[in-house]
Amino acid sequence: MSRVTVDGLFMEYDRTPILERISLEVASGTFCAIVGASGCGKSTFLRLLLSQERPTRGVIRIDGDEIAPEPTPDRGIVFQRYSVFPHLTVCGNLTLAAELKRSRLVGRLFGAARRREKDAISDTLRKIGLWDARNRYPAQLSGGMQQRLAIAQALVMKPKVLLLDEPFGALDPGIRADMHDILLTLWRETRMTVFMVTHDIKEAFKLGNRVLVFDKVRHDPQHPAAYGATITYDLLLDRNRRKAPDAADRSGPDLAGSVH
Ligand SMILES: Nc1ncnc2c1ncn2[C@@H]1O[C@H](COP(=O)(O)OP(=O)(O)OP(=O)(O)O)[C@@H](O)[C@H]1O
Ligand SMILES: [Mg+2]
Repeated sequence: MSRVTVDGLFMEYDRTPILERISLEVASGTFCAIVGASGCGKSTFLRLLLSQERPTRGVIRIDGDEIAPEPTPDRGIVFQRYSVFPHLTVCGNLTLAAELKRSRLVGRLFGAARRREKDAISDTLRKIGLWDARNRYPAQLSGGMQQRLAIAQALVMKPKVLLLDEPFGALDPGIRADMHDILLTLWRETRMTVFMVTHDIKEAFKLGNRVLVFDKVRHDPQHPAAYGATITYDLLLDRNRRKAPDAADRSGPDLAGSVH
């Protein structure tokens, strides 16, 4: 279970409103794609979900409990680039991620538990197609492989909620399509709740079963920074139609949520 509830969220930086009046109920296992103009606060929203920032007002809950005030292993994040440790091999990166999670929870593992953890890492490496590259360093990997490693690193922590900030933005279109398949397979297997920011509207409709559009609804021509962005469209997509190979071929989505 990983139901996410956002209640009356406001965020300001130096008294400049960035996000305002964001309230949201996301069912466990939803894949939320987030789109919106550059600078409207999408990454800020993910940082709030991660507790990298504290909101000016409002509460975020996972399964009814307010999120911890600092990042915890229940929430994993993948950025567009540079979220792996360059001085560790592929395997080393995953082992460290597992160790970080463990040290927070139960301390050191020995014997059978440690073997189970190694097996879990090997399994993740195979699933994400990095088994043969397990002893390489990030600089020796292609961009697509580095992003797969970043996703694997987040998954090893077994988060309830996975946050992805333009994870494929720097990749070639062909590699992106492969990454979509891998991500969808992992999402179905793990039943995680996902929030993914993308600038690619086709990608949003291909991957998400819910698409959130962030935009400003209030404008003051004299003070362009007077108001923050909110969720202007909340589109719940039909699960069966989600499997369509090309979102652009589909008829319009169901408008299940609010249009403010
Ligand atoms: N730490 C900070 N201090 C002050 N202002 C910030 C900070 N972080 C972000 N901002 C401002 O908040 C606004 C939203 O930034 P954010 O990075 O969330 O936008 P975004 O929607 O992710 O943009 P992009 O699509 O370009 O990635 C921007 O105006 C940005 O300048
Ligand atoms: Mg951003």
